[in-house]
Amino acid sequence: MIPLLALRDVHAGYDSIEVLHGVSVHVDAGEVVVLLGANGAGKSTLLSVASGMLVPTAGQLLVAGQDLTGTGAGDLARAGICTVPEGRSVFPSLTVAEHLLMMTHRGVSAADVEERAYARFPRLADRRQQSAGDLSGGEQQMLALARAVATEPSVVLVDELSMGLAPIIVAELFALLRGLADDGVAVLVVEQMAQAALDTADRAAVVANGRITHEGDPERIRSVIADAYLGVDPLARQETT
Ligand SMILES: Nc1ncnc2c1ncn2[C@@H]1O[C@H](COP(=O)(O)OP(=O)(O)O)[C@@H](O)[C@H]1O
Ligand SMILES: [Mg+2]
Repeated sequence: MIPLLALRDVHAGYDSIEVLHGVSVHVDAGEVVVLLGANGAGKSTLLSVASGMLVPTAGQLLVAGQDLTGTGAGDLARAGICTVPEGRSVFPSLTVAEHLLMMTHRGVSAADVEERAYARFPRLADRRQQSAGDLSGGEQQMLALARAVATEPSVVLVDELSMGLAPIIVAELFALLRGLADDGVAVLVVEQMAQAALDTADRAAVVANGRITHEGDPERIRSVIADAYLGVDPLARQETT
């Protein structure tokens, strides 16, 4: 199978500082892949490369087998790559319906966008006239996901899905991501909280210091993390001096 998204031996960073030192990761249609790693490991940088916000200094970005390295974020969005950035990017004073209205595109009507979003996120339907600022944190994250889904993406990138949310909400959000993948979307999600992520993932990888140090099925990664309690923590930030 040709992965919907693949990074091949990607090097990237900011100015002269290299953050990713040769990272390869891929996501197939229908898969949820989780990237775990400590603060500063390079997870968000990797997502920036995948979304075209950051151009790699070496290596390739392939979308459905097509080399799109160096094309802009706009081209990658048109290729079906969609990002849910860290920190629930909602506008507090706009209503749920207004957020979805912004996502009308390619001649899809506002009614269709809303209908699609509410079919997947029924909780938002009850709150369609509510300001996003008055939603719970979990509902705001749901709205951020709903906006992403409205673009009918083939690849969804999610940064720090669970941040600041209660475990029960996190489980619900992961179930929504699972549902997206089951419909054929390739989902790449970055997490610091391992457990809920590993319950949902088809595959997982650990990022440390700009490299993938472990990857495999969730059970294997779970044992890697468990082993860490006996020795070196693969999720711990290692300072480079
Ligand atoms: N815009 C930026 N400019 C300069 N350095 C950055 C920028 N964003 C991140 N970094 C640095 O890159 C490294 C990796 O950061 P990041 O990818 O955000 O890690 P993570 O998402 O795993 O916490 C860190 O050392 C961070 O300070
Ligand atoms: Mg980050």
